[in-house]
Amino acid sequence: MNSTDVLFRPFSIGSMELANRIVMAPMTRSFAPTGIPGPMHSAYYRRRAEGGAGLILSEGTVIDRPASRNDPGIPFFHGEAALSGWKNVIDAVHHGGAKMGPQLWHTGGVKSFLTDWVPDVEVESPSGLDAPGLPRGKIMSDADIAETIAAFSKAAAEAKRLGFDTIELHGAHGYLIDQFFWNGTNLRSDRYGGATIRERSRFAAELVAAVRASVGPGFPIILRVSQWKPQDYAARIAETPDLLADWLQPLVDAGVDVLHCSQRRFWEPEFREIDGAEGLNFAGWAKKLTGAATISVGSVGLSGDVMGAFSGEGSTSVGLDKLLERMERDEFDLIAVGRALITDPAWVEKVRSGDWAELKGFDAASLAELV
Ligand SMILES: Cc1cc2nc3c(=O)[nH]c(=O)nc-3n(C[C@H](O)[C@H](O)[C@H](O)COP(=O)(O)O)c2cc1C
Repeated sequence: MNSTDVLFRPFSIGSMELANRIVMAPMTRSFAPTGIPGPMHSAYYRRRAEGGAGLILSEGTVIDRPASRNDPGIPFFHGEAALSGWKNVIDAVHHGGAKMGPQLWHTGGVKSFLTDWVPDVEVESPSGLDAPGLPRGKIMSDADIAETIAAFSKAAAEAKRLGFDTIELHGAHGYLIDQFFWNGTNLRSDRYGGATIRERSRFAAELVAAVRASVGPGFPIILRVSQWKPQDYAARIAETPDLLADWLQPLVDAGVDVLHCSQRRFWEPEFREIDGAEGLNFAGWAKKLTGAATISVGSVGLSGDVMGAFSGEGSTSVGLDKLLERMERDEFDLIAVGRALITDPAWVEKVRSGDWAELKGFDAASLAELV
């Protein structure tokens, strides 16, 4: 086993200083039926802070747009009551010793695969689609787009006001922002659509620029992106490094500090045809091409990948050698850990102290409660 010291180096970006390189991945838990995070949420996140995570990204929390969530248990990031709940969460996390950012989200035209619940207003998306060829809801007008950008900016400013250390924009996994990136869900012929990824990145670039203006310089903006989608695991926004640069560089130029590059398995090479089976992963290429800091993610310390979790599959705990090798090469800056931290709030501290036998893996039964 390589030394885990490489995971416990501090890291700074803008105004945020992290004690180590381990990030709790954003994970929707659907325990906010009124949209308001309560004491249960504060205790849940505080436990992971006390367990040693350097940075915590909240579950997806939605901006102030009609039909911005697709599951009634997703918390809001707007309105006095929800924001005061989030204030308690960030205070609790700071007491626990970690930094935190809310993941700001709009689910676009996507139906949840976990519930049949539908919002009482029509869902909105770039081209009125859930997935390619699957109509759902309305096509966003220019006014809808402008109001959505304003709602993201407002939420980001509120996060900063409440004392959060960063924000993450959810631009991955086939939801609203990603629906603009993806040619299968963005069929627009106006300035937000087009044949090239640069054109389809325009919505996100304008959104990032507006968020940057609202939080000012120095406050770190994280953008989560993915090639894969729950609607299509094999989907790719960028098939080559040049296209990857066309996609991500305008977003970094607009104000993104950290690209959070979602993969289901962090060790999979992004362009195997270029640098082989052990080649750079998505976060590795994103860092190399844009110079931005990156977060990698996907099945860290676990035997199975994320999508199994939703059909009740558990995962056993596995070693971290492959991760440590990549961290030693500084392929990416930070690593996010998802399911392992749901089942085991003390996962980070156990890794730090070498308590390998005590790592619990992921038990799907732990999704049933927020503890
Ligand atoms: C229960 C659950 C909920 C999730 N919710 C979100 C979410 O709200 N936003 C998001 O970007 N990713 C979400 N994800 C994906 C995780 O952030 C992460 O990328 C994925 O679980 C892979 O990491 P892991 O293999 O360490 O679990 C979720 C994953 C799980 C298991």
